[in-house]
Amino acid sequence: MYGCSDAKARNEFARTRDGAAMAAIPATLAPGNTVKPCPLRAPLVVTVVGLPCRGKSLAAHKVARHLSWRGESAKVFTVNENATNETLSEISLFFKEGNNVAIIDGMHLTRASRQTVATFCCEAVFHHLLIEFTCNEKCLQENVADTVQFYRNLDQNIDWERRFRESNDHHAPQFEPCSALEGPLITVNNSEDSMYHSVTARGVRGAIQTDILGVLASPVIRQQTFYFSRHGESEYNVLGRIGGDADLSSRGMKYAERLARQLGGPGSAPDCPRPKVVSRNYKSNPKYISTNSIWTSELRRTIHTVQNIPGPRAAIKDLNEINAGICEGLTYEEIQERFPQEFAWRDQDKFKYRYPHGESYLDLLQRVDSVVQALLTNTDVLVVSHQAVLRCIMAYFKGVKPDDVPYINVPLHTLLIVRSYGYDFVVETVPLKVECVDTYRIQPKVKYRIPYRR
Ligand code: G3H
Repeated sequence: MYGCSDAKARNEFARTRDGAAMAAIPATLAPGNTVKPCPLRAPLVVTVVGLPCRGKSLAAHKVARHLSWRGESAKVFTVNENATNETLSEISLFFKEGNNVAIIDGMHLTRASRQTVATFCCEAVFHHLLIEFTCNEKCLQENVADTVQFYRNLDQNIDWERRFRESNDHHAPQFEPCSALEGPLITVNNSEDSMYHSVTARGVRGAIQTDILGVLASPVIRQQTFYFSRHGESEYNVLGRIGGDADLSSRGMKYAERLARQLGGPGSAPDCPRPKVVSRNYKSNPKYISTNSIWTSELRRTIHTVQNIPGPRAAIKDLNEINAGICEGLTYEEIQERFPQEFAWRDQDKFKYRYPHGESYLDLLQRVDSVVQALLTNTDVLVVSHQAVLRCIMAYFKGVKPDDVPYINVPLHTLLIVRSYGYDFVVETVPLKVECVDTYRIQPKVKYRIPYRR
């Protein structure tokens, strides 16, 4: 384990710190003691460090949401100031239940408070990662204003601004910044402006910690709105065929007009949401330039769906529909007839099932990760894509577990509006009332079995 088995770092820590710090090193960490190395897949405890209103909670929840979406089992444990023994017991139980990432969202301003968690991790053979948050005065003011607004909605009789200022003044003198000698450490200097937002890392190892570092690398934008829609009904949808690059049906074209009216196109109401116009350059396949605000796949049914909506646009390959491989262009009945074994396997585990020469939902989730990360650095983006892709993206905002992703209902001719609300997202479903087929295939209750053949 990093902060545990690294005797050199511990000795260094003991040499360079004063008596109080030395006394804080537990017996299990004392030089010469034998410690168990931490297996690669051991659970991870993340200790969040920082004064009030430095953006700790937003970031902690962003990390948990991302890891859970990617198939890890992460949870935020919110504490007043420091993790207590009760918190640590809860975490032990959480790991015993098979989960693997616990994020303790508190202040942990003193070395001693962090050492308590480090000792717990060392004894239980868990990985431990510290994340320290700071921010500049401008960012602090914005954070305070935001938090005050949030709490004011809950209780108007309290002077929340004064309360946060006092809490900050009270805690500031206690703050002992983290030292890399305390173990793996990520420091985040928060700003909504990506040019001022900075992150440093020491001792970070392994896929999960590297993932966390990636999530923290871009700033958390406090107020975000995204619009999502599938393409208008396609000629293939009408025939019940999957995949391909068919164009819109006549009802699909009607939907394209209706969507444009909803989003600032011809005939729209003056107060309807309009994509921000920053640059009018059409990029054929850029890597998520932040000035683009209408993102489609490269397939014509999505490109034609947004053709009447004003604003800069980008066609992004990663937003293309799931590749159905040998089943492209077939109906479900044809797949069942021609490839019964494949059909049955898909029903058994739709999330992990990969079409021969094609993709699985698991592959797709990996593919759209970069799109989601790019979205999170933006706001007011309209994404027009496909059923399977939007299921994967909506799973992030709705907090849906991987196995349930292939069954999220994303109907045709419906606008989904996602708004951030603190560290949560609220999804509004707006059916635009243009007739279309229903492409949803329910999860079979009794899983399909292949008849035994002699
Ligand atoms: O294959 C194309 C569909 O949009 C994905 O739907 O995963 O429910 O079969 P499905």
